Amino acid sequence: MDADNVPSEIVETLLTEEQIQARLAEVAAQVDADYATSDLLIVGVLKGATMVMADFARHLRSHVTMDWMAVSSYGSGTQSSGVVRILKDLDSDLVGRHVLVVEDILDTGLTLSWLLRNLGSRGAASIEVFTLLRKPEALTVPINPRYVGFDIPNVFVVGYGLDYDERYRNLRQVAVLDPRVYGG
Ligand code: PRP
Repeated sequence: MDADNVPSEIVETLLTEEQIQARLAEVAAQVDADYATSDLLIVGVLKGATMVMADFARHLRSHVTMDWMAVSSYGSGTQSSGVVRILKDLDSDLVGRHVLVVEDILDTGLTLSWLLRNLGSRGAASIEVFTLLRKPEALTVPINPRYVGFDIPNVFVVGYGLDYDERYRNLRQVAVLDPRVYGG
């Protein structure tokens, strides 16, 4: 789906398909270089990171293994609750592994903060983070992802994996949702 298909629901397109893909290629090149001598496990955080994982992994030029974790903190609203639930755990053992957690968005940071503490107790050789989007103004806990796609303003965005009430994940762009859609 394109932003043009739902013009009345979108205030503006923040990131085009081309901008997203170009940045993913840059980050992938950096990750290829940084992990040239180690086997990398990339961990996608469902469901938001599905699109980033699929495209980012294909931009990489090295072998990686892929695993998935499903956590939830939002319910169906637009604010993080800080209450994180594991809906699906990893299949992989992290002992001795180099791990890169892939996220769609770092908003308040509560989800990632919890996740990093949880994964940090599993014996990995290293754990780093790649988030496609980061909202510096919304961050409430100190988290320093090694790789960031884009810093964006503190507005509610959807698309490219990000949802509102489970819709808009299949939007090709990252777009600002019209507040009328969520009663804002
Ligand atoms: C979203 C997003 C991050 C988290 C970021 O996930 O994918 O995991 O919220 O918010 P925070 O930094 O304020 O914690 P969500 O819980 O909405 O689940 P989803 O990925 O299935 O959409």
